[in-house]
Amino acid sequence: MKIIEVADYRALSKVASEIIIKQVQQKPNAVLGLATGGTPIGTYRYLVEDYQKNQTSYHKIHTINLDEYIGLNHEDSRSYSYYMNDHLFQDINIPPEQTILPNATNSDCQKESEKYEERIESLGGIDLQILGLGENGHIGFNEPGTSFASKTRVVKLTESTRNANARYFQSIDEVPTYAISMGIATIMKSKEIILLVSGKNKATILTQLLTSNITEELPASILKTHPNVTVIADKDALSLT
Ligand code: PGA
Repeated sequence: MKIIEVADYRALSKVASEIIIKQVQQKPNAVLGLATGGTPIGTYRYLVEDYQKNQTSYHKIHTINLDEYIGLNHEDSRSYSYYMNDHLFQDINIPPEQTILPNATNSDCQKESEKYEERIESLGGIDLQILGLGENGHIGFNEPGTSFASKTRVVKLTESTRNANARYFQSIDEVPTYAISMGIATIMKSKEIILLVSGKNKATILTQLLTSNITEELPASILKTHPNVTVIADKDALSLT
């Protein structure tokens, strides 16, 4: 894993956006794997700013998101579908049908997961995958203990993940318990991956990631075996290393 150390969240967002813009310029029909959560918001802001200034075109781009909560539809402001429209899609020229998230209101989420996996394959795989790092080491919603061979499927969220995400809901009881998540094997098939890590609350897990063996107890540790991973981390996240 290559590590880029940056001063702060703003710099992290800028560097990440530049990598994405370069990918889009080099391959105008690229498939981008996108993430939600707090960390990529600044990156998406810079993509929108660049689009407004330089008209970088997303007309032929496809996006594939990592995950979606089961039971929240795209009009629910807490769904990841809503988040992606709000933070990125509505402000760039990507055709809506090329923005793909799991449909977690489908009555058969297992079938939806299988279709999702096929959809990624049919697009030729993910060129550049953006990841955040959970405080428990998860990537996507692949919680500690997840098989490295896992594919897109229905997952149960751990209490620590539900607690970390409770800030977007009125109360912890409203945080969904299940999601559809891309699997670890799915993520690992991406040609290039960038892992964004920002803030003091990530310092402990980032240190563990950088020093640990490759173990399913720390899902992100598998990234060490991927040939093209860049970790972009700010000083706060690296403060315990
Ligand atoms: P965060 O989430 O960006 O909101 O910190 C990261 C994650 O849980 O994967």
